[in-house]
Amino acid sequence: MEVICSNNVITIRLLEKNNKDIECLYSWLNNKDVYEFYGDSKEKSFTFVKQKYENKIEDHTTYPCIIEYKKNNIGYVQFYSINNKNYELTEEQFANITNKSDKIFAIDIFIAEQGYRNKGIGTETIKLLNKTLFEKYNANVIVIDPKVNNLRAIACYKKCGFKECFIAKQREEKDGIKYDNLIMKIEK
Ligand SMILES: CC(C)(COP(=O)(O)OP(=O)(O)OC[C@H]1O[C@@H](n2cnc3c(N)ncnc32)[C@H](O)[C@@H]1OP(=O)(O)O)[C@@H](O)C(=O)NCCC(=O)NCCS
Repeated sequence: MEVICSNNVITIRLLEKNNKDIECLYSWLNNKDVYEFYGDSKEKSFTFVKQKYENKIEDHTTYPCIIEYKKNNIGYVQFYSINNKNYELTEEQFANITNKSDKIFAIDIFIAEQGYRNKGIGTETIKLLNKTLFEKYNANVIVIDPKVNNLRAIACYKKCGFKECFIAKQREEKDGIKYDNLIMKIEK
């Protein structure tokens, strides 16, 4: 098990290729509470999920991680180093959030298990990960991109110290509809 960071109750560790981790993802990504705000509502087969996430493990550009709370798998977070191309922003928008010399990471997160949302765990998890990205991965800036209608996520990210930068119009497609993202950032 490769731990990225942990405190008394929360551990963020790399996703593993074993059935338990992939089964969790399979069930989570097909859970309405998750796909309402993360991914799309199309039914995902076990094979699809296994292939997609095993590719993430293998390609080493994204760090795909399981969030454990008191040793139970409760959700997923991934982080990756970004530029304007792999983050789907224009050069102008990108210049808005960062200097050329900055090392920038992006985070995507969901808490899937019933009973673990709205309890401050998302905030605690992101704060823990931010600290690690700043201290161990030499990040200068971290960005996150909730849909503008995801008020809970935005409230959570503000509690973590993220500031609103701008709205990227029609940047995220879900179920054939394009949504606006609020681009938020936190600096070291
Ligand atoms: C977004 C998510 C990671 C946040 O984690 P969490 O543990 O639920 O969040 P927290 O409890 O730390 O903070 C949520 C805050 O939002 C507030 N909130 C909840 N519902 C809200 C709503 N509809 N409107 C505004 N604020 C809301 C809560 O009151 C809380 O703030 P408070 O502590 O000041 O009261 C989690 O809810 C989740 O995984 N949601 C489903 C998937 C998702 O949205 N992923 C993010 C995609 S960008």
